[in-house]
Amino acid sequence: MQLLLKNIRQLVTVSANGGLVKTGNGMSDLGIIENASVFIEDGTIRWTGPAHDFREKLRKDADVIEARDYVALPGFVDAHTHLLFAGSRENEFAMRARGMTYQHIAEMGGGILNTVKATRGTTKKELKKIAQKRLDAMMQQGTTTAEIKSGYGLNEDGEIKMLESIYELEKEHPMSLVPTFLGAHAIPPEYRDRPDNYVNEICERILPYIAKRNLARFCDVFCDRGYFTVDQARKILTKAKSLGLQLKIHADELSNIGASSLASELGATSAEHLEKIGLEEITRLQKAGTVAVLLPGVSFFLGHGYANARGLIDAGVAVAIASDFNPGSCMSFSMPLMMTIACTQMKMTPEEAISAATLNAAASLKLSDKLGSIEPGKQADIVLCEIPDYKYLAYHFGVNLISKVIKKGTILEFS
Ligand code: NIG
Ligand code: FE
Repeated sequence: MQLLLKNIRQLVTVSANGGLVKTGNGMSDLGIIENASVFIEDGTIRWTGPAHDFREKLRKDADVIEARDYVALPGFVDAHTHLLFAGSRENEFAMRARGMTYQHIAEMGGGILNTVKATRGTTKKELKKIAQKRLDAMMQQGTTTAEIKSGYGLNEDGEIKMLESIYELEKEHPMSLVPTFLGAHAIPPEYRDRPDNYVNEICERILPYIAKRNLARFCDVFCDRGYFTVDQARKILTKAKSLGLQLKIHADELSNIGASSLASELGATSAEHLEKIGLEEITRLQKAGTVAVLLPGVSFFLGHGYANARGLIDAGVAVAIASDFNPGSCMSFSMPLMMTIACTQMKMTPEEAISAATLNAAASLKLSDKLGSIEPGKQADIVLCEIPDYKYLAYHFGVNLISKVIKKGTILEFS
């Protein structure tokens, strides 16, 4: 099957010229080609370049999209979500509007544990149905790959139910999904006074089972005050690594207890959040080559200050942005909105925001050899936007500017 995108007004390739990630000034180079064509065969990009250079003889039975009115970008990679959950927490949202904090609500037994109760009480079939709707809506906003974390089960059955749901959804839905085990998302109520026993349960029972069945590619821990300590996180992540999982850490979000330094120490693929990261820890991340996944929507939604994106980029850390879609700290999965917030509040440039939402996000999932840019050999995940210039995408916020989504070379139809 062939598809030709012809005369594209502006092709934003996000090419790293053979590299798998962008850092420093490289994040500002989007590899733009004006009046371009992209030729796709069997779901893979075969050729990109100026439209007049396209060799027509490559084309046999290609469908053609006349793309004169469109800017083309790589499909967005949402590298940090908690998309699989039941229920909702608008009451907590209202409490926060009246001045209560996320931490205070959690200390009173709300927050993550509220969603754990609702998710434990929902069947796999029902959970998947809820998730499918969300995945459809995400794709309409240009996301073509999403990471999903478990973490609303907090016991063996509940966590496995979540990971099996993600595994099945990946087969049934066009969205590419990356499963992450986040059994250490909060201390389960049953272990309130003996959290170390839960850590043991994760290390001795849950993780080995998940690894054996290959149910997760990454292991993550919410390492923060009131959740898991650095020592507990080290224990879980070291075990996960020994079982062949790759590592992510929810780090320096509510407080800085040393979680991002642990990410560097363990050579984690990514450290995520980082609202409270300091300069020394930034240097450590840079040395370790760990990707910083920043979550602008969380700072916006909780009002707790933004990560030091400029400091991270200027120090040479690869920065990605993601939605963190979840019912507590960011009830949005709009990647273009995350880009707007990154530009207006974190002083990232529109170019950096696009690199962060595509190639670098793919790198934070160890998938940037296949995804995140529009280059020959890569999977044809492409979005077309009817806008005058790529900078318009983050600029005109609160509306959906995505006109067409191409996933593995197929144009998706939305009902
Ligand atoms: O990334 N920080 C921990 N977990 C989520 C929040 C999950 C929830 O509130 O349900 C986050 O912010
Ligand atoms: Fe999160």
